[in-house]
Amino acid sequence: MPAMSRVEKAVCRSAPWRVFTRRLVLPWALQGIALSGEVLEIGGGSGAMAEQLLATTPAITMCVTDFDQTMVSSAVEKLTRFGTRVTARQADATALPFADSSFDTVVSWIMLHHTVAWEKALSEAVRVLRPGGLLVAYDLVDAGPMRWLHRAEPADHRMIGIDELRAELARLPVVDVSVRPGLGHVVMRFNARRAPTPSS
Ligand SMILES: C[S@@+](CC[C@H](N)C(=O)[O-])C[C@H]1O[C@@H](n2cnc3c(N)ncnc32)[C@H](O)[C@@H]1O
Repeated sequence: MPAMSRVEKAVCRSAPWRVFTRRLVLPWALQGIALSGEVLEIGGGSGAMAEQLLATTPAITMCVTDFDQTMVSSAVEKLTRFGTRVTARQADATALPFADSSFDTVVSWIMLHHTVAWEKALSEAVRVLRPGGLLVAYDLVDAGPMRWLHRAEPADHRMIGIDELRAELARLPVVDVSVRPGLGHVVMRFNARRAPTPSS
């Protein structure tokens, strides 16, 4: 199982990262999209994004998952105040322990490249979406500074090219695909809808 380095784990749980990602990254990553219904977060880390989403979107409930139990414990601690609106549990994004069509929305924030088998994680995210359900995500782009930064990093990862991501989304049962690079192609935000079931 791919693992994050100790440094990355510490950064993801740190107060500066939590404030930065909640206040600045989340509004940018959401692209003005309002989330609804039952939301699954994959690779949710310490629950920083979930905390903000739950606080600002009263209509949603969330299941926050991460494959690292340290992260799950940190998320549980941060999200307790939301009571029954949220559950946090250990789960590998490349083999999600949920039935097909379980969620209205799946969110993925800067975690796919850590899964290494990111194509599998993407297809799992789509599998657990209900027809018409929404995938909203952002990740690093396999280019320039981010590629070099991650080469120096001992943790497992496999960076994602914009064209690779587009090609993979084209293979999946999704519609209304949008992939938009930002910050000079350092990051990309993307969203897609699970294709509605064809009428019989
Ligand atoms: C860079 S952190 C981002 C955390 C969080 N999404 C955020 O924005 O603060 C990446 C997270 O992905 C998790 N992760 C990596 N591979 C995973 C996998 N296969 N399944 C689930 N989570 C995974 C790591 O444990 C880590 O918490």
